[in-house]
Amino acid sequence: MKQTTDFLKMKENNEKIVMLTAYDYPSGKQAEQGGVDMILVGDSLGMVVLGYDSTIPVTMEDMIHHTKAVKRGAKDTFIVTDLPFLAYHLSVRDTLINAGRLMQDAGAHAVKLEGADSVLEKITALTQAGIPVCGHLGLTPQSVGVLGGYKVQGKDAHAAQKLLDDAQKVEEAGAFALVLECVPKQLAEKIAKSIAIPVIGIGAGLYVDGQVLVYHDVLGYGVDRVPKFVKQYHSVNPFMIESIQAYTSEVKNNQFPEDKHSFTMKEEELKVLYG
Ligand code: KIV
Ligand code: NA
Repeated sequence: MKQTTDFLKMKENNEKIVMLTAYDYPSGKQAEQGGVDMILVGDSLGMVVLGYDSTIPVTMEDMIHHTKAVKRGAKDTFIVTDLPFLAYHLSVRDTLINAGRLMQDAGAHAVKLEGADSVLEKITALTQAGIPVCGHLGLTPQSVGVLGGYKVQGKDAHAAQKLLDDAQKVEEAGAFALVLECVPKQLAEKIAKSIAIPVIGIGAGLYVDGQVLVYHDVLGYGVDRVPKFVKQYHSVNPFMIESIQAYTSEVKNNQFPEDKHSFTMKEEELKVLYG
């Protein structure tokens, strides 16, 4: 299993880091079999698995429940779990307790949290407590209400400079990696070159140290639309719906189960039963 220091080395060696989200036993298992370097149990699970329209309703219990399942499927992959909405804003103490639960109760190897500013002291405290932290800047979905929607961040020079400064502060605070979401590729490249920790992009172009995507987006599983920055490698949804339709129709038309799906009794037992 790769460790935080391996990800730093990968950046030094110009070896791309692959991260994919997973939310349960089968997706964790598939991510590991697919050879990703690290799994993110993202709070995006609120949207793609639980059907909320943002990540705001996701709870610590949700994150623990799903991380445990992923862990059972991916025993040999580095797992980062998102601290959900408000789990790291009340106090350093609360942040440590919540992150500790994700590691001790759920088995995450690291936690991810969004933002800089007041979050920086939390990153430092977690790192000092032995909890590896992945930062997350750019489009930070837990702040969608403040950002006014899911939009590209850092498009003007002033906002870009703030993101560059924040990325450096996240590194200084002790993070081992930084997710950078939905920013112009030129800015992402500049940020990746200006810090030593790996920058994992999503909607951040090619010139960063790795990429992360959402499992359901990559597979076209249960999602109707995907954002511009997603590459959908397959669309499994139609296969799944067709399979369910075929099952429904075969049951209705007495085509399932066939003899090969059925159990039988011995002749003598039948005689006793029927007389
Ligand atoms: O929750 C998530 O899936 C994420 C990624 C999109 C980076 O935070
Ligand atoms: Na997230």
